[in-house]
Amino acid sequence: MKRLLYSSVLLVLLPALWRVSSVNAARNQDQQPAHQQTKTADKSADYLGSETCMACHEDVVNKFAKNPHSRLALMHGGKGVTCESCHGPGKEHVDGGGDITKIFRFTEASVKQIDKTCLGCHATAHPNFERSEHGKANLSCTSCHSIHKFEDEASLLKVSQPKLCYTCHTDLKAAFAQPFHHKVDEGLMKCSDCHNPHGTFQTTQLKSTADQNAICVKCHTETAGPFVYEHPVVKTEGCTICHSPHGSPNPRLLNVANVNTLCLQCHSETNMGAFPHAVSPSGPNHNQATQYVACINCHTQIHGSNSDSVFFH
Ligand code: HEC
Ligand code: HEC
Ligand code: HEC
Ligand code: HEC
Ligand code: HEC
Ligand code: HEC
Ligand code: HEC
Ligand code: HEC
Ligand code: HEC
Ligand code: HEC
Repeated sequence: MKRLLYSSVLLVLLPALWRVSSVNAARNQDQQPAHQQTKTADKSADYLGSETCMACHEDVVNKFAKNPHSRLALMHGGKGVTCESCHGPGKEHVDGGGDITKIFRFTEASVKQIDKTCLGCHATAHPNFERSEHGKANLSCTSCHSIHKFEDEASLLKVSQPKLCYTCHTDLKAAFAQPFHHKVDEGLMKCSDCHNPHGTFQTTQLKSTADQNAICVKCHTETAGPFVYEHPVVKTEGCTICHSPHGSPNPRLLNVANVNTLCLQCHSETNMGAFPHAVSPSGPNHNQATQYVACINCHTQIHGSNSDSVFFH
């Protein structure tokens, strides 16, 4: 899809690059890049190309050669309107000897203007942003991304994950510092393996697999099923009814210290209200003698089984 979007950019001749981004957004007038709303008729002559910017912003232009956005220029046979595809036409700015009021400045722009400019080209990739928790909390693309000063080059992030996320979600540091945790701080996993910071249709901006399964099963495929004998809560309540996704003081990231307590939250006469179908263990195997044996010593295939209705194997 992305490829399609950008190859359509290819087909349109200079000087329309700036306009191309609005073509992508033209379905929705509202999404017109910010500074075009005030100046609807930019002329091709208003675009000078990055060679001109080079004269006064040499360091910025030189550094830009490695930026993924430099590809915009290549697409136009090296005509170099790269800078102005974000900052808008530069003629007035240059004619005014670098008049700072005549160029689009992200640092001075409103959240809406910033997002509209970036989404002018990236709307297909991130259609949910405005509805996401981050969008609603008035974050903009540049709360996390920087085009010129980034630590994470691949995703143009101001600072790399998880530091980026911890700058605002300070309370979560403690969760990942617990004895058992997903190895996010160690760099083996990223917050964005489970969350999409641009929003999703799930709660807490969780990602899901292609077949709309819980994101957890993308890596823990053995828990996915389908099984002949399902432990139905795995699907109805989700993994987090038993596991803490970030970290836990308990092995296997369990929510409670004692596995039997976990099971008996549902499988006991007194607690069945919330899970009316969960039966209380009974019979000779659940007697005084075995009550201190971990349920999972016998019920080993706790996520479901293809051969045994009580998950022994
Ligand atoms: C004649 C020299 C000159 C040329 C050519 C020039 N600029 Fe500038 N530009 C300046 C000056 C001077 C400033 C103000 C710098 C300051 O106050 O820190 C500035 C500021 C800016 C800023 C705002 C910086 C900020 O601090 O927010 C942007 C964005 C910018 N220029 C983009 C461009 C682009 C894009 C081009 C090419 C189309 C360009 N400039 C060409 C001289 C120039
Ligand atoms: C993809 C959009 C985009 C492109 C392309 C782009 N810029 Fe920027 N520019 C930004 C954003 C966003 C900022 C705000 C600071 C940041 O996020 O890095 C910025 C800031 C600036 C500044 C202010 C100084 C600073 O670092 O804060 C200057 C000057 C500037 N850009 C010049 C240029 C020039 C020259 C080019 C072409 C080589 C260019 N920009 C290409 C988005 C862009
Ligand atoms: C004129 C169109 C345009 C605008 C405006 C634009 N981008 Fe891009 N962006 C691109 C292109 C083209 C690429 C390179 C994609 C590729 O090579 O697959 C890119 C790449 C990126 C990447 C690197 C990830 C990747 O897929 O390679 C990030 C992150 C990004 N843009 C964020 C932003 C942000 C944030 C803004 C607003 C400040 C912005 N872009 C504005 C066209 C644009
Ligand atoms: C809360 C932080 C945050 C905000 C706000 C944010 N991003 Fe991102 N963005 C990220 C992170 C983190 C990644 C890397 C994702 C990954 O590695 O899976 C990323 C990746 C990207 C990419 C490249 C890969 C992809 O998923 O397409 C683009 C393009 C992008 N962001 C554009 C945007 C735009 C446009 C906005 C504003 C509408 C925005 N981002 C707002 C954090 C953010
Ligand atoms: C600039 C500050 C900031 C950054 C950086 C940031 N967030 Fe957020 N995030 C917020 C705010 C504000 C909210 C909404 C209020 C809340 O739920 O805390 C939010 C909400 C969320 C939510 C939804 C919480 C819920 O209860 O629904 C998730 C998940 C999330 N952020 C993950 C991330 C991840 C992952 C990163 C790093 C890629 C990140 N955030 C980076 C500020 C930030
Ligand atoms: C293994 C997958 C996974 C990883 C990795 C992960 N999360 Fe989460 N996160 C979840 C799930 C699942 C929930 C929902 C928990 C619930 O509903 O009880 C959640 C909830 C949240 C929430 C909202 C509730 C809360 O606990 O505050 C925020 C904010 C959040 N995550 C941010 C982050 C950040 C920041 C990182 C990286 C430092 C991160 N997550 C890494 C799976 C993950
Ligand atoms: C991107 C891959 C990935 C995703 C997504 C993921 N995990 Fe994990 N998980 C791992 C890896 C790798 C380990 C083992 C390494 C470690 O200790 O972090 C692990 C460990 C675990 C463990 C401990 C296993 C043990 O033997 O002690 C549990 C439980 C777990 N994950 C549950 C979940 C749940 C629940 C989710 C969804 C909220 C989830 N995982 C999402 C990769 C993932
Ligand atoms: C009814 C509670 C419950 C639910 C729901 C649940 N688990 Fe578990 N899970 C457990 C228990 C208990 C263990 C510990 C088994 C052991 O130590 O032998 C475990 C162990 C694990 C392990 C460690 C390896 C293994 O298989 O023993 C992983 C990984 C895991 N669960 C992932 C998941 C994922 C992913 C989901 C959601 C698809 C999920 N769990 C749903 C209770 C549950
Ligand atoms: C969140 C509630 C919940 C938790 C926690 C839970 N279960 Fe279940 N369990 C159910 C429900 C609902 C069923 C399906 C109804 C039934 O067959 O009892 C079920 C079914 C079962 C069955 C199959 C019963 C049968 O009649 O075939 C076994 C065995 C079982 N659970 C054992 C356990 C064990 C062992 C644990 C702890 C590791 C556990 N469950 C944790 C709710 C739960
Ligand atoms: C010593 C092995 C063993 C232990 C320990 C054990 N079970 Fe069972 N469980 C069984 C067997 C065998 C069955 C099959 C029915 C039967 O013969 O009683 C069973 C059946 C069940 C059933 C299905 C309903 C029923 O009573 O037939 C549930 C629910 C159940 N167990 C939950 C638990 C829970 C919760 C624990 C921990 C508190 C636990 N079991 C500990 C062996 C065990």
